[in-house]
Amino acid sequence: MGHPGMALSIVILAAGQGTRMRSDLPKVLHPLAGRTLLEHVVAAARNLGGRAIHVVYGHGGRLVPERLASLPVTWVEQGEQLGTGHAVAQALPHVPDEDTVLVLYGDVPLITEATLARLVAAAGAGGMALLTVELPDPTGYGRIVRGPDGAVRRIVEEKDADPAGRAVREVNTGILAAPARHLTRWLDALDRDNAQGEFYLTDVIAMAVAEGMAVRTVEPGGVEEVLGVNDCIQLAERERDYRRREARRLMREGVTLLDPERLDVRGSLQAGRDVVIDVGVILEGEVELGDRVRIGPYTVIRNARIGADTEILSHTRIEDAVIGEGCRVGPFARVRPGTELAAGVHLGNFVELKNARVAGGSKINHLSYVGDTTVGSRVNIGAGTITCNYDGADKHRTVIEDDVFVGSDTQFVAPVRIGAGATIGAGSTITRDVPAGELTLSRAPQQTRPGWKRPVKKPKG
Ligand code: UD1
Ligand code: CA
Repeated sequence: MGHPGMALSIVILAAGQGTRMRSDLPKVLHPLAGRTLLEHVVAAARNLGGRAIHVVYGHGGRLVPERLASLPVTWVEQGEQLGTGHAVAQALPHVPDEDTVLVLYGDVPLITEATLARLVAAAGAGGMALLTVELPDPTGYGRIVRGPDGAVRRIVEEKDADPAGRAVREVNTGILAAPARHLTRWLDALDRDNAQGEFYLTDVIAMAVAEGMAVRTVEPGGVEEVLGVNDCIQLAERERDYRRREARRLMREGVTLLDPERLDVRGSLQAGRDVVIDVGVILEGEVELGDRVRIGPYTVIRNARIGADTEILSHTRIEDAVIGEGCRVGPFARVRPGTELAAGVHLGNFVELKNARVAGGSKINHLSYVGDTTVGSRVNIGAGTITCNYDGADKHRTVIEDDVFVGSDTQFVAPVRIGAGATIGAGSTITRDVPAGELTLSRAPQQTRPGWKRPVKKPKG
């Protein structure tokens, strides 16, 4: 908790229709950088030390709480969307009177914990604070009306404002902190006597001022923190803001980005020292990059750990996998879930691995599918090698022991085990276990038919 002697409850408004998204999906369920809008807001709020996070949902019915059932929040339904004041009022019966209430919007996803902590601190115990910002174009926002002394007097909604009010460029972001005890009382007293016929949360400001309460204002760390998502254009803009923010963070941590505008981090990325990331890279979920890792262009990595000094070459896709140190993967490699590469493994172009464990120094350099397979150390798998792991009903394992050499165009019909040091002749279909140290091949003997002639088309007569 930011402030001694103060208890915090958080209310996130997420019941609005989101009509302009023109989507069947409730707005707060739309994804931004791989997480829903609402999850971003909860992530910013969850470490503020609040006793609870209440999410007011409505439009889209139970879909929001159902989809996000694992969030650490309580769900409050707002049956009819009668305005922001009405929405907050739905949550207040669940908030103890002595708490400070922090109101957030489920469709303002880039708000940061640092800004919220400053806002809550500015409210203090029993006080009130608004998050405001000056916008070059304040159209659509509620305006902050200040007195001659500079103190906040009230908020006027754009639709209710006169020209002088509309000229104000300091806007209400909607995010505020206020004492629950008073907020309950003020919300009870709201009416719908305004241009939109709604219960305006913003009307409580004038009520607080009338009771002599000082209303402090706080500015966000960056304007993108308070920008909402109302349509797909703004959704893309927030995605870009998020991308820039993540890119700046990584560069501050010493990661070299060849073009920060062309990196997408959709999840959490941990990077070591002297990591270099080329353009068009997408990193999803939990990704860990060791020291001196280099990621080539147009690569997608999802939920993976990549060891130090490994190079991932262009157009590679890696998912749910662990790549050891000093490996070289790609270009055009596909590493599917359950794969683990030890140190110094090379995977080349058009190589697909699934649920494969490959020990140190082994090489699979060209055009191969290796699935449900254990590969030992220093194994060399030739071009065009296929593990036939699926018989139409079940998956079977292939085991290739240390120091095996597999000739090109070999099929392993699993289950099958290749003994250590064995050599498989090119073009073999291996259906039975292979002894260690020997040459094994299965190949139709080569024939030559001397004097054979190709058929010739007879001339039409
Ligand atoms: C509100 C503010 C305005 C501010 C702007 C910032 C009021 C009256 N006005 O206006 O001063 O500049 O936000 O974006 O508060 N919601 C509900 N239930 C409702 C109504 C809204 O949950 O009944 C939620 C919406 O889902 C949204 C948020 O509250 O997340 C704001 O609602 P919205 O209709 O966008 O408010 P604005 O009219 O933009
Ligand atoms: Ca809005």
